[in-house]
Amino acid sequence: MKTSRREFIKKGSMGTAAIALGGAGLSAASYRRIIGANDRVVFAAVGVNSRGGANINAVLGCTGTRVSHICDVDSRAVAKGIKQVRDMTGSAPGGIEDFRDLIEIKSIDAITVATPDHWHAPMAIMAAKAGKHVYLEKPSSHNVYENEVLIKTSKQTGRMIQMGNQQRSAPTSIEAVDRIRKGDIGKPYFGKAWYANTRGPIGKGKVAPVPDWLNWDLWQGPAPRTEYRDNIVHYNWHWFWRWGTGELLNNATHEVDVCRWALGVDYPGKVSAMGGRLHYDGDDWEFYDTQVVNYQYDDDKLITWEGKSCNGMKPYNMGRGALIQGTEGSMVLHRNGYEMYDLAGELVEKKEESGRSETTGTKGSGSLDVLHMYNFLEAIRRGKWLNSPVYDGAVSVNLCHLGNISQRVGRMIEIDTTTGRVVNDKEAMDLMRRDYEPGWGL
Ligand SMILES: NC(=O)c1ccc[n+]([C@@H]2O[C@H](COP(=O)([O-])OP(=O)(O)OC[C@H]3O[C@@H](n4cnc5c(N)ncnc54)[C@H](O)[C@@H]3O)[C@@H](O)[C@H]2O)c1
Repeated sequence: MKTSRREFIKKGSMGTAAIALGGAGLSAASYRRIIGANDRVVFAAVGVNSRGGANINAVLGCTGTRVSHICDVDSRAVAKGIKQVRDMTGSAPGGIEDFRDLIEIKSIDAITVATPDHWHAPMAIMAAKAGKHVYLEKPSSHNVYENEVLIKTSKQTGRMIQMGNQQRSAPTSIEAVDRIRKGDIGKPYFGKAWYANTRGPIGKGKVAPVPDWLNWDLWQGPAPRTEYRDNIVHYNWHWFWRWGTGELLNNATHEVDVCRWALGVDYPGKVSAMGGRLHYDGDDWEFYDTQVVNYQYDDDKLITWEGKSCNGMKPYNMGRGALIQGTEGSMVLHRNGYEMYDLAGELVEKKEESGRSETTGTKGSGSLDVLHMYNFLEAIRRGKWLNSPVYDGAVSVNLCHLGNISQRVGRMIEIDTTTGRVVNDKEAMDLMRRDYEPGWGL
């Protein structure tokens, strides 16, 4: 059943003639000359409070694109998204509150999704069925089962679904993985990924009136209904099982994915996770702020992730990264380049991201977001391979789900290495799905 279908912000006014474009230093008029009106891929941006703004930058950082609509259940975010596009292009997109209305608009070719995690798979599935290509922020799903439905939908519909783990499009990471595959560090057997941040406590939420700028019913969407509380919207939903997926899915989806990519593996036979809400207690945060997860592959490869949400001490002086160790050396991969070490741990080579695109369709902007979006566009326009098609991105996302499942049941779990499903453990197997608000199941 549809709830509110208000289209509450229609086309805004045109911006001033000469507006500096983000990073490109172009006027709105010259921007319009660059992108021929006829070969444009028309986008809508869904969920634009924070990450969605970066996605808009990435879309408009590529040639031949247009953002025709902004969709959000927060009217302030819609206004912000409209302003961003108007400032960058000189013309204002339309605003829409209800995603289901958006995907009925025929002129939209593709959408970017940067909503909370509980919406990711349901939205991508509905959009693909409506004929839209989807740039879907990580994690691709809220649970293992949703990834299976998502992959099936992407195959059935033939729509491009690119997951937003942008390091897959980093030229230096692509080069590093290629070198690892060619044997530059011998036989790779160990991947260590990490993340460190200094997040504060989120307090104890109080039941509060729903703000007039928010459609709380649509924000909840597929998630079972609950009262509005004052410490959920925005961002803190990450730390509640009902909507979020914890730090593991929030950040290991990037670097565990890099390890899996570099080692050339998919599902491990065994997963174990330990940790807890160790740094703070007494607030509403339901996940873990300190966690170590291990993935064991056929006794010949191991991936491990160490996440610290509340202590910024940086392993190897980096807040996030992936170290791959082999029989003849090691490689550290990060978003800005890579470093190669010999077996004794001495640095032998260092390569940094140039910051410039090696492609010609990205207006010279080399940010990973733009490169990843450009790859998505090339797949739509020319059938080029996606750097992170959802059927592959979902494997890394499932690894993270499996880590949380192991932690939740408090023991090591066994995995079917073909399907990625938990086996021989009823309690853990049940955690591969979630409950939905009646009428909102997949
Ligand atoms: N790839 C990356 O590096 C990266 C970085 C940051 C965030 N992300 C991902 O982006 C997503 C969003 O993160 P965020 O920090 O921007 O969260 P946020 O809570 O700040 O913003 C989410 C937005 O989605 C909107 N929203 C909720 N339900 C909606 C609906 N039904 N229709 C339209 N809009 C809806 C909210 O109102 C809000 O504006 C997360 O899944 C996160 O993992 C990815």
